[in-house]
Amino acid sequence: MNDRLRELPNLLAWENGEQVASSVDWSPGRRDEILDLFREHVYGRAPVERPASMRLRTHETTDMMNGRAVRKTLSITYEGPGGQGELPFVLFVPKEATKPVPAFVLINNRGTGLADPDRQRVEGFWPAELIVEKGYAAAVFQVEDVDPDEHDGFRNGVHGLFDSPDEDRAGDAWGTIGAWAWGASRVMDALEADPAIDAKRVALVGHSRVGKTALWAGAQDERFAMIVSNNSGCTGAALSRGKKGEQIEHINKQFPHWFADNYKQYNGREAELPVDQHMLLALIAPRLLYVSSATEDAWADPASEFLSLVAAEPVYQLLGHEGLGTDVMPEPDVPISGETCGYHLRTGDHDLTTYDWQCFLAFADARLRNSLNE
Ligand code: GCU
Repeated sequence: MNDRLRELPNLLAWENGEQVASSVDWSPGRRDEILDLFREHVYGRAPVERPASMRLRTHETTDMMNGRAVRKTLSITYEGPGGQGELPFVLFVPKEATKPVPAFVLINNRGTGLADPDRQRVEGFWPAELIVEKGYAAAVFQVEDVDPDEHDGFRNGVHGLFDSPDEDRAGDAWGTIGAWAWGASRVMDALEADPAIDAKRVALVGHSRVGKTALWAGAQDERFAMIVSNNSGCTGAALSRGKKGEQIEHINKQFPHWFADNYKQYNGREAELPVDQHMLLALIAPRLLYVSSATEDAWADPASEFLSLVAAEPVYQLLGHEGLGTDVMPEPDVPISGETCGYHLRTGDHDLTTYDWQCFLAFADARLRNSLNE
């Protein structure tokens, strides 16, 4: 056993030290305890789930991709004490589908240029044509439409709408990653309402800061059948204890708005954190989970991303499934998968590429189409 695994908080021991005896104790049970620890110490608590005022509007339906897909432009509106918000998103649905199709949702933090809804520019970051060709719907939303990626004192975006302006901010109040995860759940609400979509087979994908977001969204919202975390690194897939590259202190100093204020107490004190990131991955069990790394991405630390997936395995097993099924890190460009989890290490830089998507799609073809939800 890798020595780093011995240092981790025990997934299967209750906070009072007793062992989790069987799958019956997982959910409701130990799973809720772990989820609450992440809310309290890391990502913060969202003050609202689906707002009662939420409305969905379809603006336009257009034939695209040489008639192979229909593009829908939609928006979700909601009201909070601080005013009204609007989250636009785009959805391509394969035209030849005769029944509801599974979908891939990309959370995008890199601007519409890399995920162009008009397809004037086609990039590997969001190969919507490839996704559609394989029979999936492809949806995308922009993070800045939910919450700006800057430290604005939580005045703008959904924080400005739903946080109480009068009180001091609580140590466990949600940060920006929590807000983006909330946005992903609202898009899920919208997909559930669309008869063209098989909402029991929706995969949520994020790269880097939104890879962290995809994991947090999937941990909280069990409607997502598959989560893909690409190069998510620190406070994403990667274990914090013993991590190389970016550490908790770096991330909290450079991005003070991403997490709950409480998380700053763990700057340089990873060992005192009551959770580690394998526990976040385990919150996705028994659903499908794909983690991907890149050889040049030392800041994210591929070895710590892989080991985290290995360390989540006991929960998949507790629930009667195989996770990744191995603790041997594969060679670059050799994707591996077990019954419910997949992993690859791509040669190259911190990025989301067509190769990564081909691996996600191959995993989904094998696992999501016959998912555990049926
Ligand atoms: C920075 C940050 C990472 C993050 C990355 C990104 O490098 O330190 O934690 O994942 O930005 O979002 O691309």
